[in-house]
Amino acid sequence: MPSLTIPIATLPANQPRSSHTEAMRQDTIAYLEHLAQQGDYLRIPLAFGLSAYFINDAEAVQEILLKQARKVEKPWNVKQVAKGVFGENLFTSDGELWQVLRSTLQPAFQAKRLNAQVDMMVDTTHSLMASWQVGQVIDIPTAMMDLTLGITTQALFGQDLRQSATATSLLRFLDLFSELISRFPLPLWIPTPKHLEIKRHFRLINNYFKTLVAARQQSGQDNGDVLSLLIQAQKTDSSDRLSDQQICNEVSNLFAAGYEVVSHTLAFTFYLLSQHPQVEAQLREELDNLLGQRAITAADLPQLTYLEMVLKESMRLLPVTTVLGRQVVEEIQVPAGYRLPKGSLVLISPWTLQRRADYFPDPLKFDPERFRNPEAIPKFAYLPFSAGPRVCIGNLLAMMQMKVNLAVLLREYRFSTVPGYQFQPIYRFNTRPQNGLPMVITPSTHSPNPDHQIGVN
Ligand code: HEM
Repeated sequence: MPSLTIPIATLPANQPRSSHTEAMRQDTIAYLEHLAQQGDYLRIPLAFGLSAYFINDAEAVQEILLKQARKVEKPWNVKQVAKGVFGENLFTSDGELWQVLRSTLQPAFQAKRLNAQVDMMVDTTHSLMASWQVGQVIDIPTAMMDLTLGITTQALFGQDLRQSATATSLLRFLDLFSELISRFPLPLWIPTPKHLEIKRHFRLINNYFKTLVAARQQSGQDNGDVLSLLIQAQKTDSSDRLSDQQICNEVSNLFAAGYEVVSHTLAFTFYLLSQHPQVEAQLREELDNLLGQRAITAADLPQLTYLEMVLKESMRLLPVTTVLGRQVVEEIQVPAGYRLPKGSLVLISPWTLQRRADYFPDPLKFDPERFRNPEAIPKFAYLPFSAGPRVCIGNLLAMMQMKVNLAVLLREYRFSTVPGYQFQPIYRFNTRPQNGLPMVITPSTHSPNPDHQIGVN
């Protein structure tokens, strides 16, 4: 079948002399929305005669992420920066290595194993609240990052790294990583100050993990965390791919992959609830009816159906992964009659796809009811965790943590934006609120803590 020509994208009207790369860098969300207004398939001319293709059609997304997934890989800039700083890992690898790593790591993220982490998640959430005062203004993304730091480091390798020197290195390392990956990447061997700094932090983190891995191997203990599972898998690994260094790479990469996205999804959900009191009231009712005055357990999670709908709708309207990139390594034909040539880059944006009015009627409305009947949502139109073989491996862990955090925090407190606050999402490798998200905490009327019910300050 002869292929149709994909229309060329125009630049935003306020940047007629810019390049597409520059327009995207200046305001990624506005640029992607501008593309979505032009069409579902667009060719974006890049430097050196190269092209990227913007695809905003669920049927084509299914081809790229599932049916013809073997014809795409992670983009070269992601590989160059991420591999350079983290070494090979699940996120950056493709082909056989990816398959070995994925099948080794997958069992660590199964519900049965993760359920054992719920009590730790509850305790860590309580420890965060212990530092709060009623009436205080809190920057919610910062608070959620602290909470997620504590929970993720315990779930992955059994250590709460909050307030440790290793965490300072880990967080600075992630900041530098986001900065480097958002720019045109220079080879890491060029000794720029940022390259030297990121390598210095990685050495510190790597030494920390090497010591931890050695101690675990010696003790032979199964702590129920991801690290224990990797060490067990190493003993029976016939592929010879799971060296000690590979285990260190995976643990630091898993932390990096989950930390910011979970924190910002939680922050966005608190914001959306504060703007939709009826949704918040319905959610509180579900929590009160199910839990009464008792603490949440793993067995409660499947029953919190409205909480799940709220989280799903939050990730639809404000997905933290704004755009997914893929490099085409073998030509792809999509059902609409278009051809995506070998060597080109494909951009799929959960942000624009999940705001298409034909997939999600009245798309700017925050309406958790959309998820009461998930079958009604077109396949591959909803991608907060991506889809297909490269679907987020941490999605169950993330949903579990976010449910526990929201349930525990909402039962104690109400979260309201400060007067005059203007919410403005901005893309910095992931989406986050520009200028933070300051919120006032007041006691929830149903707080299980009697001090909070009378509003102690
Ligand atoms: C709300 C929370 C999260 C969101 C929205 C999210 C989103 C995503 C998305 C969209 C991808 C696909 C990226 C791509 O293919 O380009 C992905 C992959 C991945 N995520 Fe997550 N993620 C979350 C939490 C986590 C957590 C908690 C972990 C681990 C502790 C994690 C680990 C990973 C890894 C390792 C991959 C790569 C998987 C592979 O390529 O096989 N994520 N995530």
